[in-house]
Amino acid sequence: MRQALLFFFLALFMLAIAHLSMTKLQAGDTGHPNQVVAETTEENENPFQEKCYTCHGNEVAYKEWTHSGHAHALVNLRHGDHPAWDSCLRCHSSRYDFLVEQSWPEDKPFNVETAVNAVACASCHSHNSDREDYLIKSPRKLCVSCHKMDCGCAGAGIIHQSQSEMFLGREGAGIQRMPSPHVRVMKKRCVHCHMAKKDSPETVARHGGHTFIADFAICADCHDDMTTKLTQYREEIEAKMHAVKAVLDRAVDVDSDAYRDAKLNYDMVKGDSGYGLHNIPYARALLDYSLSLKPQLLGTAVEDATSDDLHERK
Ligand code: HEC
Ligand code: HEC
Ligand code: HEC
Ligand code: HEC
Ligand code: HEC
Ligand code: HEC
Repeated sequence: MRQALLFFFLALFMLAIAHLSMTKLQAGDTGHPNQVVAETTEENENPFQEKCYTCHGNEVAYKEWTHSGHAHALVNLRHGDHPAWDSCLRCHSSRYDFLVEQSWPEDKPFNVETAVNAVACASCHSHNSDREDYLIKSPRKLCVSCHKMDCGCAGAGIIHQSQSEMFLGREGAGIQRMPSPHVRVMKKRCVHCHMAKKDSPETVARHGGHTFIADFAICADCHDDMTTKLTQYREEIEAKMHAVKAVLDRAVDVDSDAYRDAKLNYDMVKGDSGYGLHNIPYARALLDYSLSLKPQLLGTAVEDATSDDLHERK
């Protein structure tokens, strides 16, 4: 009886919070539902809740994670612009893949309404793993397994950002694969920049570690004055984006292949921090290709061999 009451109040509390947080939560916000979850006691726990906090809750990694975007993944899924389906939980809620296989009492189905975990510890770790730090995938594969433009959710299409495709230099139209120069030098890929920690391991960091927030300070490990160079790159890319946008806005046929390709490349650059931050050379090439389609887009193409060459994809 006491358990049922406690569960009822917890559910009410979470509902209230869900209503209060109709707007998107950002890393660093306080009062997000995961803090409620962290305070869950054994008496009122939800069967879908991963229990890592019972042993790891006071550790640095846990505290950093509560300030990460990952801690808000479930709330933002529910309140995003796109309807949330159960299959979205695959990337937005830890242990979905595991729990969905189990049978639950009918009054307690496991779905987008009843899920409680965000992208939490069990999204990346398991005590059953033989890997270092009990990671479920190697660091090179871990982040890109969720961070993809197309979520693979039938019908949802591209609703996500493009950092992985940009970093690996693929999926764009009309140009060959062009991985970022960093792929070669960063064995742990995304983890290299996003989890780098300059502070001592005992400090709860504001960047890196389990906040997953990359700090531009890391560029200085290998580059002189990247701040100035990055400003120039950004101006150059933004100018090209402006030019592509102007052509797209005047395109005669938005159902043509040329339009689809030019727009895809534009969206990819835009979907990566707004200017293709994760692979500047690729961003430049994507936009140049889009610009090369200008005659087709504006309907001024001369039907000769040269324009056919432009169509050709490698
Ligand atoms: C009953 C307590 C307990 C629970 C619950 C628990 N752990 Fe652990 N965990 C430990 C202990 C003790 C260690 C250190 C010894 C070891 O490596 O096994 C550890 C180690 C780890 C490490 C490796 C830390 C390192 O230094 O590399 C990770 C990662 C981890 N746990 C993740 C998890 C995740 C994810 C969950 C929830 C799914 C979880 N743990 C649940 C007790 C627990
Ligand atoms: C289980 C799927 C999953 C994995 C694995 C994963 N992420 Fe995420 N990540 C998400 C989701 C979902 C969000 C969106 C959170 C939100 O609602 O803001 C996110 C958000 C982020 C953000 C914040 C983005 C923003 O717009 O604020 C960063 C940075 C990030 N992830 C980096 C990483 C890195 C680095 C790794 C690898 C160590 C990683 N992620 C692995 C699912 C994942
Ligand atoms: C998005 C993926 C992701 C999530 C979520 C995540 N971790 Fe990790 N964790 C990693 C990666 C990757 C490493 C290895 C970092 C490296 O190699 O530099 C790691 C390393 C660790 C370590 C080893 C020491 C350290 O701090 O680097 C511990 C302990 C740990 N994680 C605990 C946790 C706990 C507890 C949670 C839940 C609050 C959690 N992790 C959530 C990806 C994740
Ligand atoms: C393959 C993994 C994956 C699947 C499946 C997935 N997402 Fe995501 N989602 C992510 C990642 C990673 C992010 C982090 C930022 C980004 O890429 O936009 C994210 C971010 C989001 C955001 C933005 C949160 C914010 O910061 O505003 C929304 C909204 C969202 N997803 C909705 C959905 C919906 C709806 C579905 C199901 C139709 C879905 N996602 C399925 C990985 C996934
Ligand atoms: C060379 C270092 C570096 C590498 C490698 C890297 N990133 Fe980033 N990433 C950054 C920096 C710097 C930012 C901007 C941080 C900020 O704005 O606070 C960023 C931003 C992001 C964001 C947030 C974008 C936003 O709009 O807020 C996401 C998500 C992200 N990266 C994912 C990834 C993924 C996934 C990978 C691996 C495929 C990756 N990053 C590899 C440095 C890197
Ligand atoms: C581990 C070392 C390392 C780190 C850290 C690093 N880079 Fe690099 N970066 C390289 C290497 C190596 C190249 C390829 C060098 C070349 O081709 O001249 C490169 C190339 C680049 C290029 C392409 C240069 C060009 O000529 O177009 C850009 C842009 C860039 N890095 C930006 C950044 C930014 C921004 C950061 C921080 C978020 C960063 N890098 C962090 C090693 C690093």
